[in-house]
Amino acid sequence: MNMQNHHKRETRDYQELDASHHIHAFLDQKVLNAEGPRVIVKGEGLYLWDNDGNRYLDGMSGLWCTNLGYGREDLVAAATQQMQQLPYYNMFFHTTHPAVVELSEMLFSLLPRHYSHAIYTNSGSEANEVLIRTVRRYWQVVGQPKKRVMIGRWNGYHGSTLASSAMGGMKFMHEMGGMLPEIAHIDEPYWYAHGGTMTPEEFGRRCALQLEEKILELGAENVAGFIAEPFQGAGGMIFPPESYWPEIQRICRQYHVLLCADEVIGGFGRTGEWFAHQHFGFEPDTLSIAKGLTSGYIPMGGLVLSRTIAEALVEKGGVFAHGLTYSGHPVAAAVALANLKALRDEGIVSQVKKDSGPYLQKGLREIFTHHPLIGEIQGTGMVAALQFAEDKARRQRFSNESDITWRCRTYGFEEGVIIRSTVGRMIMAPALVAKHSEIDELLEKTKRAVDRTARDLGLM
Ligand SMILES: Cc1ncc(COP(=O)(O)O)c(C=O)c1O
Repeated sequence: MNMQNHHKRETRDYQELDASHHIHAFLDQKVLNAEGPRVIVKGEGLYLWDNDGNRYLDGMSGLWCTNLGYGREDLVAAATQQMQQLPYYNMFFHTTHPAVVELSEMLFSLLPRHYSHAIYTNSGSEANEVLIRTVRRYWQVVGQPKKRVMIGRWNGYHGSTLASSAMGGMKFMHEMGGMLPEIAHIDEPYWYAHGGTMTPEEFGRRCALQLEEKILELGAENVAGFIAEPFQGAGGMIFPPESYWPEIQRICRQYHVLLCADEVIGGFGRTGEWFAHQHFGFEPDTLSIAKGLTSGYIPMGGLVLSRTIAEALVEKGGVFAHGLTYSGHPVAAAVALANLKALRDEGIVSQVKKDSGPYLQKGLREIFTHHPLIGEIQGTGMVAALQFAEDKARRQRFSNESDITWRCRTYGFEEGVIIRSTVGRMIMAPALVAKHSEIDELLEKTKRAVDRTARDLGLM
């Protein structure tokens, strides 16, 4: 491993400086400062190294984003060339540039034909902020200005900015940052936790019908859109029952409510389809994208619009008073283009569908179906969740499930694998380029972490 840029400082020095000046994401900063964060210094393929030379298999693609893995020279070259040629220009002054034009050409060649335009952002949170303004503007333009309410789902995640977190359903985030008006929520389709005695199919339909009830309660004339992740990511890689999405789509169409899919995690091959809604077989009106768009090499997101919405905005909308300094940033666009080219030309998405995805999913089921700690395995392609259960027969969860999964995650680090804990589930999403040997290692190390957790609980 080439460490030429590293070991400039001792790990302790990095940790102390970090503690002095940096507030991290979603952590108790005081606890983190006392423990000291791992200092990650290098990535190559699926592997990461810390400042002390420890190697980890990254089972989470960073944060579901390094779809191509680390260390891709083609992406580095694309960024370098673009920086030399034109490091920045804006979209405000009747101007554009080849990088963003070519990215759009590529993106819409991969998307189903009924999408036609994108508004580029820097992140997924921003994509969802832009979503709210764009759908409200759309309804104004087509003569229904009262349609302003966005409906999201409890335990959904759409970002950390004010409006994106408000549309998300993480109550602890609302408590800290506040809620916004004209946003409502319905329950999540998390059968294992909330399905009771219903079959998954009954439960899926029941959850979908809540959307209809909510629309009727608010008045369809006031509801602009319904936003949801095709499968919930941060909420626990929760895959809805098969009955869910067809019913949601029917309801959105019936009440003229835009169906807004948050594809920030599911997009760009994660499920073995280019976009997760294709895996589930529904047809959203908008797609929020980020993460895998650039394989995380540089920040970029976007809001993809159906032809119907885009045509209304373009043909009848006049000025849309909206713009970001870094929309369609040339360097980000060049990296995104190189990333999409690689995903397409190297056949990576179809490989996830036909080979590596089934290999991972089969391995997980072979190892964990009869494991005493695991009540359910969900996932497809290169995304999966292991549901922890105290009593598998009764689908009973641990009362302190967050602590237990957190411990499992720590054991994962000790075993040399990064898997993420959510409230009651361990989740994984390795890079789409994972080879069988790397998937074997991921499974083996995950099993060791889960076994250690089960032994602590007296289950093994
Ligand atoms: C589904 C979903 N939407 C939006 C976001 C927010 O994206 P970002 O962190 O790039 O703002 C995330 C981040 O994890 C996400 O998982």
